[in-house]
Amino acid sequence: MPLPMMRKSVPATTGFMQSCYSTPSYMAPTRIEVAAASGAYPVLIGPGTLATLPRLLDQSLLGPRRIAVSSPVVWELHGNAVRRATTEREPILVPDGERFKNTMTVGRVYEALIRAGADRSTVIIAVGGGVIGDLVGFAAATYLRGVRLVQVPTTLMAQVDSAVGGKVGVNHPLGKNLIGAFHPPRLVIADPAVLETLPRREFRAGLYEVVKYGVIASEPLFDRLDSSLTTLFDRDHDALSHVVSESCRIKADIVSADERESGLRRVLNFGHTVGHALEAVTRYRRFRHGEAVAYGMLAALALGVARGVTPPESRDRVARLVAKLGPLPPIADLSIKEIVAATAHDKKIVDGTLHFVAATGIGQTTTLKDVTAKDLKSALKTIGVTRP
Ligand SMILES: NC(=O)c1ccc[n+]([C@@H]2O[C@H](COP(=O)([O-])OP(=O)(O)OC[C@H]3O[C@@H](n4cnc5c(N)ncnc54)[C@H](O)[C@@H]3O)[C@@H](O)[C@H]2O)c1
Ligand SMILES: [Zn+2]
Repeated sequence: MPLPMMRKSVPATTGFMQSCYSTPSYMAPTRIEVAAASGAYPVLIGPGTLATLPRLLDQSLLGPRRIAVSSPVVWELHGNAVRRATTEREPILVPDGERFKNTMTVGRVYEALIRAGADRSTVIIAVGGGVIGDLVGFAAATYLRGVRLVQVPTTLMAQVDSAVGGKVGVNHPLGKNLIGAFHPPRLVIADPAVLETLPRREFRAGLYEVVKYGVIASEPLFDRLDSSLTTLFDRDHDALSHVVSESCRIKADIVSADERESGLRRVLNFGHTVGHALEAVTRYRRFRHGEAVAYGMLAALALGVARGVTPPESRDRVARLVAKLGPLPPIADLSIKEIVAATAHDKKIVDGTLHFVAATGIGQTTTLKDVTAKDLKSALKTIGVTRP
């Protein structure tokens, strides 16, 4: 499937918020523009960008009142850097972690917003990983029929994926992300320095999503990831900035061309049909999202090889890189039947047909529209699920 032309890295020297970078005391961040029906927004990537948030917001005229929503853990670690960008004394704090990504937690955010007297001119700043970004984004999409949102992603997963693209939402016990909305942020600030405090397992979970970008759109990114794992695990700012920028650029190009997922955007779901099913059957407790996606990619590759669309050597290259990233939680004990049943709730089912993304090499994909339960079952067996 052809992707739109990939853009080159653009330092933030023109347009929106330019004046913040007129002093040469810090390097200009990489700026990626994302087109959305509601208006384009910038993603600013680079060490030190978080410290510029108060100034960015003062100059952006997004709204006079700004309230941060975060989790206690993230706020304790990085709240100080954001506090000066808010006008409210206290942030709204809710628990993160996949099992709290539900309508109950969104209800807590609504209540706190109402109690704080938040109105339509209030800007909500979501500070945290993908769970906070998705659930706070959903609260922002629905509170007073929608208020402005700024995303400050603090996990690798959120910086490379969830904070960009405007999909927000929460899980339902029957399926992942089944309740949601499209609500693009007005600004995304991805500062790789905040990733220094990220636990190794969370960091790896984000790297699997970078593997995904390599497989669907960029062999150079795939190779670079493979060759720079040590520096990345050392949280080297330059290495991280590069990986985050390349990933965001791929996502920005795709969602700018297809915001509402009528076609092209589906490639971003590579590995997610099985990945989401694994998360649902384990009640969102066993896998980090990225880990489930890692298994999902292996299953998609096995299925692609079985169907003759994926070259076995591409499957082997991905499997080697996934293995190099570290161990994944066990899956042998899960039930093939339950996993396949869970894929039936996948949002990629259009008119009863599952649109399954398969790789045709590293950096390219195709969509299979006739994937059967039998195909899925054999793929699951191939990746090590043993229980019928
Ligand atoms: N909307 C989208 O397009 C999209 C895309 C990809 C993923 N997602 C969603 O993102 C979610 C997963 O996000 P995640 O992996 O970021 O998980 P998460 O939000 O649960 O964060 C993982 C853990 O890291 C901690 N944490 C966050 N930032 C930290 C930091 N800087 N230092 C130390 N600890 C920190 C959090 O407290 C949490 O315990 C899933 O629900 C997934 O569906 C959404
Ligand atoms: Zn994902």
